[in-house]
Amino acid sequence: MRRMSNRAPLIWGIVLIVIGLVGMAALWALAPTALTPAGIGTFSSNGQLIYYTGGDASGSIPRSLGGSRMTGFGMMGNMACVVCHGEDGRGGRVGMMFGTVEIPDIRYSSLTSPRSEAGTTVPAWSESDIARAIRDGFEPNGQPLKAPMPMWDMTDAQLSAVIGYMKELDGQ
Ligand code: HEC
Repeated sequence: MRRMSNRAPLIWGIVLIVIGLVGMAALWALAPTALTPAGIGTFSSNGQLIYYTGGDASGSIPRSLGGSRMTGFGMMGNMACVVCHGEDGRGGRVGMMFGTVEIPDIRYSSLTSPRSEAGTTVPAWSESDIARAIRDGFEPNGQPLKAPMPMWDMTDAQLSAVIGYMKELDGQ
């Protein structure tokens, strides 16, 4: 009897460690699938690489949070376009730590056509309107884009690469 009860904490300790290891293994197995396009081990273009990882060969692209214009926003700083706008670029409602967020469709053809948003018609954007939204965080009418859309400190080459990928999303 005595021996049994002395062993109980040890057994529970082992059980907890096993649960922890299984949990970590599950997270580790899931994480790469969230960042890698289904079935593709490598990216087809620099634009796709940026869309899926938020960076390229030169490293992670610096960014700050739009709307409130604050920098250093912890976890949000690690998110790539795909996490919010989706693999197909269509956006939708995405659950985040501070509630549900409405994410716009950023396929090139959608942005460059007139569309209705919250009951009003948004005129077609030009390619430079799209670039300004991504880099400077402004809509063509001068309104700042709301959080959690980051402002991306991209070079012209990175901007045209990611916009090129948004054109590829048109087919999806
Ligand atoms: C953390 C989530 C998040 C990430 C990451 C993100 N976006 Fe956004 N994006 C948003 C939200 C939310 C909006 C809408 C903001 C608003 O309505 O003011 C938006 C708006 C946009 C718009 C303007 C579209 C419109 O109709 O207003 C473009 C273009 C865009 N994002 C491109 C990108 C690209 C390219 C990347 C990656 C380099 C990216 N976004 C990463 C959340 C995100």
